[in-house]
Amino acid sequence: SPSDPDLVERARAAKEKLGSKVFVLGHHYQRDEVIQFADVTGDSFKLARDAAARPEAEYIVFCGVHFMAESADILTSDRQKVVLPDLAAGCSMADMATAEQVAECWDVLTDAGIAEQVVPVSYMNSSADIKAFTGEHGGTICTSSNAKRALDWAFEQGEKVLFLPDQHLGRNTAVRDMGLSLDDCVLYNPHKPGGGLTVEQLRAAKMILWRGHCSVHGRFSLESVEDVRARIPGVRVLVHPECKHEVVAAADQVGSTEYIIKELDAAPAGSKWAIGTELNLVRRLANAHPDKEIVFLDKTVCFCSTMNRIDLPHLVWTLESLAEGSLVNRIEVDSETEKFAKLALERMLALP
Ligand code: 13P
Ligand code: SF4
Repeated sequence: SPSDPDLVERARAAKEKLGSKVFVLGHHYQRDEVIQFADVTGDSFKLARDAAARPEAEYIVFCGVHFMAESADILTSDRQKVVLPDLAAGCSMADMATAEQVAECWDVLTDAGIAEQVVPVSYMNSSADIKAFTGEHGGTICTSSNAKRALDWAFEQGEKVLFLPDQHLGRNTAVRDMGLSLDDCVLYNPHKPGGGLTVEQLRAAKMILWRGHCSVHGRFSLESVEDVRARIPGVRVLVHPECKHEVVAAADQVGSTEYIIKELDAAPAGSKWAIGTELNLVRRLANAHPDKEIVFLDKTVCFCSTMNRIDLPHLVWTLESLAEGSLVNRIEVDSETEKFAKLALERMLALP
């Protein structure tokens, strides 16, 4: 829907008043009405890397979800304040792994006698607590654009990987990119004693996948791939690696949001694409490429509801509050958590 011109003008005026004091970051899943005010847009890796790009900015307004704002706080100086325009913009996947559950899992691995062989690899989509656990136990963070490099690194450090919280990204990367088999992977269920696994299963596994998933990407199905192929002959199916393994296996191409954008930019006029990722991004891509046929992989899948919480009214309120000198919705990771979370994030940023 077109943005309210009065709100657009207010956001513009507040941003102008703040000048170089504010740096606005926007994830690709944000609404158009918000993304138009972003100084930098990106996937979660690019935004983590770019968060520290404007050290002179006192405020970093993060148009994305909570774990991204936490990561930006960890990776920037204490002088810079990270602000999330709606504090309710969380991520259901990140919520699927709590610090208590992960500590319990580590006890299970210790009791099975394998903890010393295990390197944790945590997806960016996790709380700062989980990132700190990862750093403290010798592991790294990854995003959907560097998961293979993170796993290559992890398997140089140890024999097994505990991958959390997204089972799909973990499984897809292991099987597609690392040459592992589905049998090398086991699924650890944090709601069951011992993760629902036997000691023998844990000892035999190479990849211990946390039972988490994205509520948006997890809804794309194999039927949606088959349907679109039948409907649009010659269509190329391009999906995000948070989709289920069977969807990824049936797709033509797989990659992060940044990859999806680049592939469509490079695609020839007249080419046909079905995209399996969040709807705001797919719509923006379809509008940006009128010479290509770009459809959403499955019409029953919708927006990421928490990404969508950041809307123009919240952005206006945030920018106007900051312009009036009132610091609202600050996201601040405590220094103890930050120490090890930063170690894990820096290992990711140093991956070859
Ligand atoms: P990327 O930004 O790494 O593509 O991840 C998508 C996502 O789900 C972010 O929440
Ligand atoms: Fe979380 Fe999925 Fe939304 Fe990304 S798209 S923020 S992983 S729920």
